[in-house]
Amino acid sequence: MTEKGLRKLEDDVDHIMIDEKTVQTRVQELAQQIESDYAEVEDLLLVCVLKGGYMFLSDLSRALKRPHELDFMAISSYGAGTQSSGAVQIIMDLKAPIEDRHVLIVEDIIDSGRTLQYLRRSLLARGPGSLRICSLLSKPARREIEVPVDYIGFEIPDEFVVGYGLDFAEEYRNLPYIAVLKPAVFEHIFDQ
Ligand code: IMP
Ligand code: MG
Repeated sequence: MTEKGLRKLEDDVDHIMIDEKTVQTRVQELAQQIESDYAEVEDLLLVCVLKGGYMFLSDLSRALKRPHELDFMAISSYGAGTQSSGAVQIIMDLKAPIEDRHVLIVEDIIDSGRTLQYLRRSLLARGPGSLRICSLLSKPARREIEVPVDYIGFEIPDEFVVGYGLDFAEEYRNLPYIAVLKPAVFEHIFDQ
């Protein structure tokens, strides 16, 4: 809190990379593609990867006119920094078994590929009927491990982004667009 009240998140934004309307249009397109690909599949389960996937999952789920169920998983994240430690861990597991079910993983971003490779292996070992991945964003330049991603919203350059679920030090998730922060924001975190 400052004398003038709380900070405004948008004051920390350097520029918007993907605006709200463009994100929303793409989510509708992905939903249509998923509906057509899963037209013959009765039992569809969307698995949201927390926390980053929450806003995408919410919009994607609403855009789907067909029946589907939801489940949630939480995976270890970057913490306060912008670089992955490389180690991946399940912090919260799915509520129910996925054996013989048709599972679509909903993730915010694929960067090195480590998180999704780990998740994919771990879910495949549970014997789902099928397993596909839908990621809103992809940074192809950063890939260390090739993971088959069936649905990608946007390919983006190698820049750290926030908003629409993605955080920096647990903030900025609620911005309705994808943005790049001002360099000064990254300096502050190390001053504390
Ligand atoms: P990977 O394991 O390197 O593919 O990283 C995937 C995870 O890192 C994502 O689920 C995000 O939580 C996080 N991440 C990667 N890039 C960014 C970014 O630009 N902004 C915020 N989080 C990111
Ligand atoms: Mg994530």
